[in-house]
Amino acid sequence: MPLPKPITAIVFDAYGTLFDVHSVVARCDALFPGQGQALSLSWREKQLQYTWLRSLMGRYQDFAQLTRAALYWAAEARGLELAPEAATRLLDAYLKLAPYPEVPAALAALAARPRAILSNGTRAMLEPLAAYSGLAQYLDAILSVEAVGIYKPDPRVYGLATEHYRCPADEILFVSANGWDAAGAKSFGFATVWVNRAGAPLEQLGAVPDAIVADLAGLPPLLPAN
Ligand code: LAC
Repeated sequence: MPLPKPITAIVFDAYGTLFDVHSVVARCDALFPGQGQALSLSWREKQLQYTWLRSLMGRYQDFAQLTRAALYWAAEARGLELAPEAATRLLDAYLKLAPYPEVPAALAALAARPRAILSNGTRAMLEPLAAYSGLAQYLDAILSVEAVGIYKPDPRVYGLATEHYRCPADEILFVSANGWDAAGAKSFGFATVWVNRAGAPLEQLGAVPDAIVADLAGLPPLLPAN
């Protein structure tokens, strides 16, 4: 399906979309042999739950703190003893997550428009990540939920992008591999592409993305040259 025109800027989710959160599996596995994958999955799931729960509770805590809390929960749930130094090593890995392999070329191919990150992460997490991965050179801005003190999919979060680019929501193309985030973004009014990396079913949330691609390589062909 062709995307609506014009598109003023392209805004990306970070974790799971540009960066592979499960690139921490090796470190998890080094600490807890054979448990790395399960621990990483449980950690990510609990991290997202905490964003939604704290938003509903009206008790914002930044993404670094909440990611730490989720790690302790996930370790305890698997009966693993997590020493503070081990937790710090795993949390440090979050600052050096690998980008998915196709991401740099896709971002480069989209250079005709401003490109930004809009993420649950704090700036203190996102900036080193963008720098370390080399993606910073393709990005004009990093927008964090910190500015509004609530998590996706609260509309105030997506509003940070329309404020930043001073354009209507439907002129922003929002790209996320998290199906629930794509639904939240579409519901807000963005043109939306869901990167369905895992072949998951469409979220039944009443907000259908404008296009679905398997990875970011599918994105540049959807956009007109300028
Ligand atoms: C983010 C979460 C959704 O980067 O992964 O905002």
